Amino acid sequence: MDEMTRHVDALLRSRRSTRAFTPDLVPAGQLREILEAASSAPSNSNTQPWRVYVLTGAPMKALGEALVEAFRSDASPPSPHFPDALPDALVARQGDFGARYYASLGIARADSQARAEQTQRNFSFFGAPVGLIFAIDRRLRAHSWLDLGLFVQNVMIAAGARGLATCPQVSFARFHAVIAEHLAMPGHEVTACGMSLGHADAAAAVNGLRMPRERVEDFARFVGFEG
Ligand SMILES: Cc1cc2nc3c(=O)[nH]c(=O)nc-3n(C[C@H](O)[C@H](O)[C@H](O)COP(=O)(O)O)c2cc1C
Repeated sequence: MDEMTRHVDALLRSRRSTRAFTPDLVPAGQLREILEAASSAPSNSNTQPWRVYVLTGAPMKALGEALVEAFRSDASPPSPHFPDALPDALVARQGDFGARYYASLGIARADSQARAEQTQRNFSFFGAPVGLIFAIDRRLRAHSWLDLGLFVQNVMIAAGARGLATCPQVSFARFHAVIAEHLAMPGHEVTACGMSLGHADAAAAVNGLRMPRERVEDFARFVGFEG
């Protein structure tokens, strides 16, 4: 394995969802650099369907406060993230995630108030200095959302290469109306997800969470190979 391969694999493996940040700021120039690199993502017919709002300071704080208020007044609005009947294998992984996540925070699974307070932290971008909102034209279909996903991953990897940590957050999608109003989004845009970005707080236990992955044998089927 050559140096470049080792480096890229290490970068991919080192990305993890970070949910506590130091207050250190990230310069706009560095964010532009990250987005420019991320925009090398492929997309169907080079349509580049990603739109991204990059927030910091007072506007980010104001959006966060409005989202917290929306969350508090209706902590469980219909969730567009998953279908009602999630396939069994995914339900099991979701349950495993919840168990590990709340254990890392010292929150008992039965403590619904503490869990809601942790969920609420999504909306203040887990204390990160930068918040990103990723949007897409609502007229597009699943394959264009795939393009957006590739872009979002590129943002996380380009940030990681610069020593920055991230957390992708679908939680924001539930409150698109609040976000659209705050950011004066055009009517055809819909919030796909958000992202917290900044410097990881190495002392925070929640950042020690290491989520396992299925083995290649369990999710890939090789066809036509010898042996
Ligand atoms: C599209 C997407 C949405 C996510 N939404 C949230 C979220 O709203 N809040 C959160 O804390 N983590 C969120 N995550 C992070 C996942 O929980 C995390 O990726 C998963 O548990 C694997 O852990 P890792 O990212 O540390 O490898 C999201 C991840 C993705 C890819």
